[in-house]
Amino acid sequence: MTEQSATLNLGEKNANLPVRKGTIGPDVIDIGALYKGTGAFTYDPGFTSTASCESKITYIDGDAGVLLHRGYPIEQLAEHGDFLEACYLLLYGELPTAAQKKDFDYRVTHHTMVHEQMSRFFTGFRRDAHPMAVMCGCVGALSAFYHDSTDITDPHQRMVASLRMIAKMPTLAAMAYKYHIGQPFVYPKNDLDYAANFLHMCFAVPCEEYKVNPVLSRAMDRIFILHADHEQNASTSTVRLAGSSGANPFACIAAGIACLWGPAHGGANEAALNMLQEIGTVERIPEYIARAKDKSDPFRLMGFGHRVYKNYDPRAKIMQKTCHEVLGELGIKDDPLLDVAVELERIALTDEYFIEKKLYPNIDFYSGITLKALGFPTTMFTVLFALARTVGWIAQWNEMIEDPQQRIGRPRQLYVGEPQRDYVPVSKR
Ligand code: SDX
Repeated sequence: MTEQSATLNLGEKNANLPVRKGTIGPDVIDIGALYKGTGAFTYDPGFTSTASCESKITYIDGDAGVLLHRGYPIEQLAEHGDFLEACYLLLYGELPTAAQKKDFDYRVTHHTMVHEQMSRFFTGFRRDAHPMAVMCGCVGALSAFYHDSTDITDPHQRMVASLRMIAKMPTLAAMAYKYHIGQPFVYPKNDLDYAANFLHMCFAVPCEEYKVNPVLSRAMDRIFILHADHEQNASTSTVRLAGSSGANPFACIAAGIACLWGPAHGGANEAALNMLQEIGTVERIPEYIARAKDKSDPFRLMGFGHRVYKNYDPRAKIMQKTCHEVLGELGIKDDPLLDVAVELERIALTDEYFIEKKLYPNIDFYSGITLKALGFPTTMFTVLFALARTVGWIAQWNEMIEDPQQRIGRPRQLYVGEPQRDYVPVSKR
């Protein structure tokens, strides 16, 4: 099939740009030769029309509200599988056989402990430090411990580091929570599955037996699946850019955590719950809808809108179902926050402004209510997002390292500053 191309003419100069087709989704125009051919850069702040890489991991159709991981719809993965199966799929590209799954679970389970010295890092933080600040510090500090898995050119070391990250994030997240509330750390238990182990490390205390509720553990596991990966979002792009310099995987994941913390990204789950609490009652919703539409007001409806989804975020639907399951299991009949959320969604989805701008609830809209019901403080919500997204970051990082086209990421700019000028001595200023 003859290769399609696009020609760009700029004054006397022009560039013939190859067009590349993916398996599904938009074609891309390869602009690698543009600067050489025309002396001009492309300009796309926020990367609204820019593909940064080629990838086989996750595909999103924002208009159709479709999310595929290695071709499998998120709805099916969340319904039929568990989080470690999704991790295997994201890392290796195929669903595991029963034997592969058993071996993977065993390997992850036997990497869940962290070096005992790690506990000393926590004591350097104030007890009221935001758990995301603690996670940025402690995950980055893993680089200081695991020197035997930081050679990124060695596929074996990359896979060991990948498993260590997936296995240790729940332990570090639980330690950040326990430190935050002044309770002793709880060690992982190898006879518990991934989500149950995490809930046990968070909510068990030395004074009594803690039985993990299987319904809540299944809900936690499903929440992890929903947050596992999401194409080239801001934090994944951060991990890829950090990794493109050859930085070790622990440092790259710490960079991803820092980026995820922002309220426009992973921090939206904490911000969305705070917003619902601030609105407080159904009667006050119109006031906040008006503020969200007011250009002079920086307020936005947290948990609404998405750069890619211009239809309902498929994860939000599953999260809403999980929310009702958890509230039902806990016997929470009339949660005022849920009433506000359901009414806010109903109003927003019938409001001209939101329809015209295609603003739908995203994954962060219902997650906060669910996580609060599970017993987590709002400050832990983004930590849970980071815990789950670690497998996506690691899978994308591995794909980048293995990509033969891979070079250090180094964008250019449109310079609008002062032209060259001479230094003026202070006596003459
Ligand atoms: C995540 O990229 C990913 O995949 C991210 C994520 C993942 O899994 O990794 O899906 C996770 O980050 C979900 C998004 C969580 N963030 C929030 O819920 C915060 C609230 N949402 C917005 O800040 C916003 O919608 C973004 C950041 C999510 C998307 O921003 P964009 O794509 O840059 O869209 P935009 O800001 O250009 O908005 C388009 C228009 C604007 O109006 P105009 O300037 O065109 O007149 O829609 C308006 C915005 O003002 N708008 C909103 C709004 N979101 C966008 N107005 C009110 N409330 C909102 N929430």
